[in-house]
Amino acid sequence: MWLTEKFGLSVPVVGAPMANVSGGKLTAAISAAGGLGMLGAGSAVSADWIRTEGAVASRSGKPYGVGLMAWSVKDHPEHLDAVLELKPALVSLSFGNYSPYVGMLQKEGIVVATQAGTVADAREAIDAGVEVIVARGAEAGGHGRNAVATLPLLQAILDLTDLPVLAGGGISGPRGLAAVLAAGAAGAWIGTAFLTCVEALTPSSVRARVIEADETETVYGTVFDAASRAGWPDEFGGRALRNAYFDTWEGREEALKTDDVGHTDYVDGVRSADPARTSIYAGQGVGALTSQLTAAQVLDGFARYRTYLQAALR
Ligand SMILES: Cc1cc2nc3c(=O)[nH]c(=O)nc-3n(C[C@H](O)[C@H](O)[C@H](O)COP(=O)(O)O)c2cc1C
Repeated sequence: MWLTEKFGLSVPVVGAPMANVSGGKLTAAISAAGGLGMLGAGSAVSADWIRTEGAVASRSGKPYGVGLMAWSVKDHPEHLDAVLELKPALVSLSFGNYSPYVGMLQKEGIVVATQAGTVADAREAIDAGVEVIVARGAEAGGHGRNAVATLPLLQAILDLTDLPVLAGGGISGPRGLAAVLAAGAAGAWIGTAFLTCVEALTPSSVRARVIEADETETVYGTVFDAASRAGWPDEFGGRALRNAYFDTWEGREEALKTDDVGHTDYVDGVRSADPARTSIYAGQGVGALTSQLTAAQVLDGFARYRTYLQAALR
Protein backbone atom coordinates (compact mmCIF):
# COMPACT_ATOMS: atom_id res chain seq x y z
CA MET A 1 0.00 0.00 0.00
CA TRP A 2 1.43 3.40 -1.00
CA LEU A 3 0.90 5.17 2.34
CA THR A 4 2.46 2.55 4.61
CA GLU A 5 5.38 1.88 2.25
CA LYS A 6 6.17 5.53 1.53
CA PHE A 7 6.30 6.55 5.20
CA GLY A 8 7.12 3.23 6.89
CA LEU A 9 3.84 3.02 8.83
CA SER A 10 2.40 -0.04 10.56
CA VAL A 11 -1.21 1.26 10.41
CA PRO A 12 -2.57 2.96 7.24
CA VAL A 13 -3.74 6.03 9.17
CA VAL A 14 -2.80 9.69 8.86
CA GLY A 15 -3.67 11.71 11.95
CA ALA A 16 -5.31 14.63 10.14
CA PRO A 17 -4.00 18.14 10.89
CA MET A 18 -6.28 19.75 13.48
CA ALA A 19 -5.76 23.40 14.43
CA ASN A 20 -5.82 23.85 18.23
CA VAL A 21 -5.82 20.05 18.69
CA SER A 22 -2.82 18.44 16.98
CA GLY A 23 0.27 20.14 18.33
CA GLY A 24 3.68 18.53 18.45
CA LYS A 25 2.79 16.11 21.24
CA LEU A 26 -0.18 14.46 19.53
CA THR A 27 1.64 14.48 16.19
CA ALA A 28 4.68 12.73 17.70
CA ALA A 29 2.49 10.24 19.59
CA ILE A 30 0.63 9.21 16.42
CA SER A 31 3.86 8.83 14.45
CA ALA A 32 5.56 6.93 17.29
CA ALA A 33 2.65 4.47 17.38
CA GLY A 34 2.86 3.59 13.67
CA GLY A 35 0.57 6.15 12.02
CA LEU A 36 1.57 9.46 10.45
CA GLY A 37 0.89 12.39 12.76
CA MET A 38 0.25 15.88 11.37
CA LEU A 39 0.63 19.24 13.01
CA GLY A 40 -2.44 21.45 12.55
CA ALA A 41 -1.20 24.95 11.80
CA GLY A 42 -4.21 27.26 11.77
CA SER A 43 -4.13 30.74 10.26
CA ALA A 44 -3.62 32.35 13.70
CA VAL A 45 -0.41 30.56 14.70
CA SER A 46 3.01 32.20 14.49
CA ALA A 47 5.89 30.82 12.46
CA ASP A 48 7.65 30.22 15.79
CA TRP A 49 4.76 28.03 16.90
CA ILE A 50 5.25 25.92 13.78
CA ARG A 51 9.01 25.67 14.45
CA THR A 52 8.63 24.81 18.14
CA GLU A 53 5.82 22.29 17.69
CA GLY A 54 7.54 20.83 14.61
CA ALA A 55 10.61 20.18 16.76
CA VAL A 56 8.40 18.36 19.31
CA ALA A 57 6.70 16.41 16.50
CA SER A 58 10.06 15.27 15.11
CA ARG A 59 11.14 13.82 18.47
CA SER A 60 9.45 10.51 17.68
CA GLY A 61 12.21 10.02 15.10
CA LYS A 62 9.46 8.95 12.68
CA PRO A 63 8.05 10.85 9.69
CA TYR A 64 5.36 13.43 10.42
CA GLY A 65 3.41 16.04 8.50
CA VAL A 66 2.16 19.63 8.72
CA GLY A 67 -1.21 20.93 7.52
CA LEU A 68 -1.45 24.53 6.33
CA MET A 69 -4.52 26.52 5.34
CA ALA A 70 -3.94 27.37 1.69
CA TRP A 71 -6.03 30.57 1.84
CA SER A 72 -3.92 32.01 4.66
CA VAL A 73 -0.45 31.27 3.23
CA LYS A 74 -0.70 34.32 0.94
CA ASP A 75 -0.88 36.60 4.01
CA HIS A 76 1.48 34.44 6.07
CA PRO A 77 4.35 33.40 3.82
CA GLU A 78 6.37 32.92 7.02
CA HIS A 79 4.25 29.80 7.73
CA LEU A 80 5.51 28.26 4.52
CA ASP A 81 9.09 29.35 5.28
CA ALA A 82 8.93 27.63 8.68
CA VAL A 83 7.62 24.44 7.06
CA LEU A 84 10.34 24.53 4.40
CA GLU A 85 12.93 24.75 7.21
CA LEU A 86 11.39 21.82 9.10
CA LYS A 87 11.12 19.64 5.99
CA PRO A 88 8.42 17.29 7.30
CA ALA A 89 7.71 14.18 5.23
CA LEU A 90 4.21 15.38 4.23
CA VAL A 91 2.56 18.78 3.88
CA SER A 92 -1.09 19.32 3.19
CA LEU A 93 -2.30 22.55 1.66
CA SER A 94 -6.05 22.67 1.79
CA PHE A 95 -8.89 25.14 1.31
CA GLY A 96 -7.84 27.82 -1.17
CA ASN A 97 -5.34 28.25 -4.00
CA TYR A 98 -2.34 26.11 -3.13
CA SER A 99 -0.92 25.62 -6.64
CA PRO A 100 1.87 28.27 -6.28
CA TYR A 101 3.38 26.37 -3.34
CA VAL A 102 3.37 22.76 -4.56
CA GLY A 103 6.64 22.93 -6.53
CA MET A 104 8.69 24.64 -3.82
CA LEU A 105 7.72 21.99 -1.26
CA GLN A 106 8.38 19.13 -3.65
CA LYS A 107 11.83 20.58 -4.45
CA GLU A 108 12.69 19.94 -0.77
CA GLY A 109 11.58 16.32 -1.06
CA ILE A 110 8.29 16.95 0.75
CA VAL A 111 5.22 14.98 -0.36
CA VAL A 112 2.27 17.33 -0.98
CA ALA A 113 -1.35 16.43 -0.23
CA THR A 114 -4.61 18.34 -0.47
CA GLN A 115 -8.16 17.67 0.68
CA ALA A 116 -10.73 17.49 -2.11
CA GLY A 117 -14.43 17.88 -1.34
CA THR A 118 -15.66 17.34 -4.91
CA VAL A 119 -14.44 15.63 -8.07
CA ALA A 120 -13.68 19.11 -9.49
CA ASP A 121 -11.38 19.73 -6.49
CA ALA A 122 -9.62 16.44 -7.24
CA ARG A 123 -9.14 17.44 -10.88
CA GLU A 124 -7.54 20.71 -9.72
CA ALA A 125 -5.24 18.76 -7.42
CA ILE A 126 -4.11 16.53 -10.28
CA ASP A 127 -3.46 19.59 -12.48
CA ALA A 128 -1.46 21.24 -9.68
CA GLY A 129 0.84 18.20 -9.41
CA VAL A 130 -0.25 17.12 -5.93
CA GLU A 131 0.99 13.58 -5.12
CA VAL A 132 -1.77 12.35 -2.83
CA ILE A 133 -5.42 13.37 -2.74
CA VAL A 134 -7.60 13.19 0.33
CA ALA A 135 -11.23 12.48 -0.58
CA ARG A 136 -12.74 14.48 2.28
CA GLY A 137 -16.44 13.88 2.68
CA ALA A 138 -19.08 16.18 4.15
CA GLU A 139 -19.36 14.20 7.38
CA ALA A 140 -15.80 15.19 8.34
CA GLY A 141 -15.04 17.44 11.28
CA GLY A 142 -13.56 20.89 10.90
CA HIS A 143 -13.47 22.96 7.73
CA GLY A 144 -14.11 21.84 4.20
CA ARG A 145 -17.02 21.41 1.84
CA ASN A 146 -20.46 20.09 2.66
CA ALA A 147 -21.09 18.88 -0.90
CA VAL A 148 -20.63 15.10 -1.03
CA ALA A 149 -20.37 12.34 1.59
CA THR A 150 -17.16 10.33 1.99
CA LEU A 151 -18.22 7.12 0.26
CA PRO A 152 -19.56 8.52 -3.05
CA LEU A 153 -16.69 11.02 -3.17
CA LEU A 154 -14.07 8.35 -2.54
CA GLN A 155 -15.45 6.06 -5.24
CA ALA A 156 -15.60 8.89 -7.79
CA ILE A 157 -12.06 10.08 -7.09
CA LEU A 158 -10.67 6.52 -7.18
CA ASP A 159 -12.32 6.12 -10.60
CA LEU A 160 -10.77 9.42 -11.72
CA THR A 161 -7.10 8.91 -10.93
CA ASP A 162 -4.28 6.43 -10.34
CA LEU A 163 -2.76 8.73 -7.72
CA PRO A 164 -2.91 7.48 -4.14
CA VAL A 165 -6.18 8.54 -2.53
CA LEU A 166 -6.81 8.72 1.21
CA ALA A 167 -10.33 8.72 2.62
CA GLY A 168 -11.32 11.35 5.18
CA GLY A 169 -14.55 12.02 7.01
CA GLY A 170 -16.48 9.84 9.43
CA ILE A 171 -13.91 7.06 9.82
CA SER A 172 -14.31 6.45 13.53
CA GLY A 173 -12.96 2.93 13.99
CA PRO A 174 -11.55 -0.22 12.36
CA ARG A 175 -14.82 -1.03 10.53
CA GLY A 176 -14.67 2.28 8.65
CA LEU A 177 -10.97 1.88 7.95
CA ALA A 178 -11.60 -1.59 6.51
CA ALA A 179 -14.40 -0.21 4.31
CA VAL A 180 -12.30 2.51 2.67
CA LEU A 181 -9.30 0.20 2.20
CA ALA A 182 -11.56 -2.38 0.55
CA ALA A 183 -12.80 0.35 -1.79
CA GLY A 184 -9.22 1.08 -2.88
CA ALA A 185 -8.08 3.93 -0.65
CA ALA A 186 -4.37 3.95 0.23
CA GLY A 187 -5.27 4.77 3.82
CA ALA A 188 -7.43 7.01 5.95
CA TRP A 189 -7.15 10.65 7.01
CA ILE A 190 -8.60 10.73 10.48
CA GLY A 191 -9.25 13.69 12.77
CA THR A 192 -12.22 13.36 15.12
CA ALA A 193 -11.15 9.97 16.50
CA PHE A 194 -8.04 11.67 17.98
CA LEU A 195 -9.90 14.69 19.45
CA THR A 196 -9.97 13.46 23.04
CA CYS A 197 -6.54 11.82 23.02
CA VAL A 198 -4.51 12.40 26.16
CA GLU A 199 -1.83 14.10 24.00
CA ALA A 200 -4.25 16.50 22.22
CA LEU A 201 -4.45 20.24 23.01
CA THR A 202 -8.24 19.95 23.52
CA PRO A 203 -9.31 21.71 26.78
CA SER A 204 -10.94 19.53 29.45
CA SER A 205 -14.42 21.14 29.23
CA VAL A 206 -14.42 20.51 25.48
CA ARG A 207 -13.26 16.90 25.95
CA ALA A 208 -16.19 16.26 28.28
CA ARG A 209 -18.70 17.73 25.79
CA VAL A 210 -17.24 15.73 22.90
CA ILE A 211 -17.45 12.47 24.85
CA GLU A 212 -21.07 13.21 25.71
CA ALA A 213 -22.11 14.08 22.11
CA ASP A 214 -23.75 11.54 19.82
CA GLU A 215 -23.58 11.26 16.02
CA THR A 216 -26.57 13.57 15.44
CA GLU A 217 -25.14 16.58 17.26
CA THR A 218 -22.85 18.09 14.63
CA VAL A 219 -23.80 20.91 12.31
CA TYR A 220 -22.17 22.48 9.26
CA GLY A 221 -21.95 26.22 8.70
CA THR A 222 -20.01 29.48 8.74
CA VAL A 223 -21.30 30.93 12.04
CA PHE A 224 -18.03 30.43 13.91
CA ASP A 225 -16.00 31.86 11.00
CA ALA A 226 -18.18 34.97 10.91
CA ALA A 227 -17.62 35.23 14.67
CA SER A 228 -13.87 34.62 14.69
CA ARG A 229 -12.99 37.08 11.89
CA ALA A 230 -10.08 34.79 11.05
CA GLY A 231 -10.67 35.35 7.35
CA TRP A 232 -12.07 31.99 6.21
CA PRO A 233 -13.47 32.15 2.65
CA ASP A 234 -17.26 31.61 2.75
CA GLU A 235 -17.07 28.58 0.45
CA PHE A 236 -15.47 26.55 3.28
CA GLY A 237 -17.70 26.19 6.30
CA GLY A 238 -16.94 23.92 9.22
CA ARG A 239 -18.57 20.95 10.93
CA ALA A 240 -18.78 21.40 14.70
CA LEU A 241 -20.99 20.47 17.63
CA ARG A 242 -24.22 22.44 17.62
CA ASN A 243 -24.38 24.77 20.63
CA ALA A 244 -26.23 27.83 21.91
CA TYR A 245 -23.91 30.26 20.10
CA PHE A 246 -24.50 28.54 16.75
CA ASP A 247 -28.27 28.51 17.30
CA THR A 248 -28.29 32.22 18.16
CA TRP A 249 -26.50 33.26 14.98
CA GLU A 250 -27.49 30.66 12.39
CA GLY A 251 -28.98 32.50 9.39
CA ARG A 252 -27.48 35.83 10.50
CA GLU A 253 -23.85 35.15 9.54
CA GLU A 254 -23.51 38.33 7.44
CA ALA A 255 -24.64 40.49 10.36
CA LEU A 256 -22.34 38.62 12.73
CA LYS A 257 -19.28 39.50 10.63
CA THR A 258 -19.55 43.11 11.82
CA ASP A 259 -21.24 42.56 15.18
CA ASP A 260 -18.70 43.47 17.87
CA VAL A 261 -20.77 42.07 20.74
CA GLY A 262 -21.16 38.74 18.95
CA HIS A 263 -17.44 38.67 18.19
CA THR A 264 -16.46 39.43 21.81
CA ASP A 265 -18.90 36.81 23.10
CA TYR A 266 -17.28 34.20 20.84
CA VAL A 267 -13.71 35.22 21.73
CA ASP A 268 -14.61 34.99 25.44
CA GLY A 269 -16.17 31.59 24.82
CA VAL A 270 -13.00 30.35 23.12
CA ARG A 271 -10.77 31.78 25.86
CA SER A 272 -12.79 30.18 28.65
CA ALA A 273 -13.41 26.99 26.60
CA ASP A 274 -17.15 27.39 27.25
CA PRO A 275 -18.86 24.58 25.31
CA ALA A 276 -21.98 26.75 24.83
CA ARG A 277 -20.04 29.51 23.04
CA THR A 278 -16.80 28.13 21.61
CA SER A 279 -16.45 26.26 18.31
CA ILE A 280 -15.99 22.55 18.96
CA TYR A 281 -15.05 21.19 15.55
CA ALA A 282 -15.97 17.52 15.21
CA GLY A 283 -17.29 15.15 12.56
CA GLN A 284 -20.23 12.75 12.57
CA GLY A 285 -17.96 10.04 13.95
CA VAL A 286 -17.98 11.92 17.27
CA GLY A 287 -20.57 9.48 18.66
CA ALA A 288 -17.89 6.78 18.76
CA LEU A 289 -15.77 8.74 21.25
CA THR A 290 -16.47 7.50 24.75
CA SER A 291 -13.23 8.06 26.67
CA GLN A 292 -9.82 9.68 26.70
CA LEU A 293 -7.26 7.29 25.28
CA THR A 294 -3.64 7.66 24.27
CA ALA A 295 -2.95 8.03 20.56
CA ALA A 296 -1.29 4.59 20.69
CA GLN A 297 -4.51 3.05 22.04
CA VAL A 298 -6.57 4.72 19.29
CA LEU A 299 -4.17 3.38 16.66
CA ASP A 300 -4.28 -0.10 18.21
CA GLY A 301 -8.04 0.06 17.73
CA PHE A 302 -7.69 1.04 14.06
CA ALA A 303 -5.14 -1.75 13.53
CA ARG A 304 -7.99 -4.25 14.02
CA TYR A 305 -9.26 -3.34 10.50
CA ARG A 306 -7.79 -6.62 9.21
CA THR A 307 -10.39 -8.61 11.16
CA TYR A 308 -13.19 -6.87 9.27
CA LEU A 309 -11.52 -7.23 5.88
CA GLN A 310 -11.08 -10.97 6.49
CA ALA A 311 -14.66 -11.35 7.74
CA ALA A 312 -15.94 -9.70 4.57
CA LEU A 313 -14.25 -12.36 2.44
CA ARG A 314 -15.64 -15.28 4.37
C1 LIG B 1 -10.91 19.93 15.48
C2 LIG B 1 -10.55 19.87 14.03
C3 LIG B 1 -9.63 20.78 13.53
C4 LIG B 1 -9.25 20.71 12.17
N1 LIG B 1 -8.28 21.56 11.72
C5 LIG B 1 -7.78 21.40 10.45
C6 LIG B 1 -6.63 22.12 10.04
O1 LIG B 1 -6.03 22.89 10.79
N2 LIG B 1 -6.20 21.94 8.76
C7 LIG B 1 -6.80 21.07 7.89
O2 LIG B 1 -6.36 20.95 6.77
N3 LIG B 1 -7.89 20.36 8.28
C8 LIG B 1 -8.38 20.49 9.54
N4 LIG B 1 -9.44 19.71 9.96
C9 LIG B 1 -10.02 18.74 9.04
C10 LIG B 1 -9.24 17.41 9.10
O3 LIG B 1 -8.01 17.57 8.43
C11 LIG B 1 -10.00 16.26 8.43
O4 LIG B 1 -10.48 16.64 7.17
C12 LIG B 1 -11.15 15.70 9.24
O5 LIG B 1 -10.87 15.68 10.61
C13 LIG B 1 -11.48 14.27 8.77
O6 LIG B 1 -12.76 13.87 9.19
P1 LIG B 1 -13.10 13.25 10.64
O7 LIG B 1 -12.96 14.39 11.57
O8 LIG B 1 -14.47 12.76 10.49
O9 LIG B 1 -12.08 12.17 10.93
C14 LIG B 1 -9.83 19.75 11.30
C15 LIG B 1 -10.77 18.86 11.84
C16 LIG B 1 -11.13 18.89 13.18
C17 LIG B 1 -12.10 17.88 13.72
